[in-house]
Amino acid sequence: MGIINFGSLNIDRVYKVSHFVRPGETISSESYKCFPGGKGLNQSIAISRAGAKVTHAGTIGADGGFLKELLKQSGVDTRYVRESENVTGHALIQVSEEGENCIILYKGSNYENDVNFIDYVLAGFNSEDILVLQNEINNLEYLLQCGKQKGMRILLNASPVDERLKNMDLTGVTWLMVNETEGLEITGENKPERIAAQLLDKYPAMNVILTLGTDGCVYQNKENRIYQSCFPAETVDTTAAGDTFTGYFIASVLTGKSMEEALEIASCAAAMAVSREGAAVSIPIYAEVEKKLMDWHEIKH
Ligand code: RIB
Repeated sequence: MGIINFGSLNIDRVYKVSHFVRPGETISSESYKCFPGGKGLNQSIAISRAGAKVTHAGTIGADGGFLKELLKQSGVDTRYVRESENVTGHALIQVSEEGENCIILYKGSNYENDVNFIDYVLAGFNSEDILVLQNEINNLEYLLQCGKQKGMRILLNASPVDERLKNMDLTGVTWLMVNETEGLEITGENKPERIAAQLLDKYPAMNVILTLGTDGCVYQNKENRIYQSCFPAETVDTTAAGDTFTGYFIASVLTGKSMEEALEIASCAAAMAVSREGAAVSIPIYAEVEKKLMDWHEIKH
């Protein structure tokens, strides 16, 4: 039993700014850094750092070799990370003084995953395995169909939500990970309980994980509702907080943790990522998360 993450790999170009640039405005950034990123890559690294076995599949350009190298160094199986003629996908990220971000994506090689490649990768996996997906690569609908046909459990992180995703059939999705804004875009509802209720009306077998920023997160299916509060953190850069949460969550589920434990571990790891700069490089290793959780429980008792 393992995890195959078919996902994006990006070069993140990060600009620290006093405020997000406004229409018609030109501003200078206080700093510029280049980081490894992409929701797919970040999530694979989080899964591996959380202690689960993960294989990453996706496409980079000739300029993306360092992304594959980082995945390898982080313990991710990279046999299905291939190179195309296109440039690697990249993200232009503004980070404000408050640590909030806004992102422009360039798809690049992330949109070069053809069906033959997908078939070839998925042939190595079966119903015992978990398929992890986000919305930053092409042929997402095909991947969902294939995963469903193979009887795989599928985790879909709905980020970033766009028209394509809003119109997709999500019946095969076992776990849907959304934040409040994405939940609103998908369902038209803005209250967490209404977002979950609407999704479950349409997809009764789904498990919805709704992240609510500093208000914590909610896990909801037809039988259960579990709430997890947010861990306190000094916000430096929120980039990849959701990816860290997603990776730690699914790794915890795979390694047999209860749902309560999985949510707590994922929330703690995400809070740690928020207090550090960058995307993939901000993701903690499991020993750090374990220590933080132990300290936290000691303070509480
Ligand atoms: O979720 C964070 C990621 O979103 C960044 O690493 C960036 O590449 C964008 O894909």
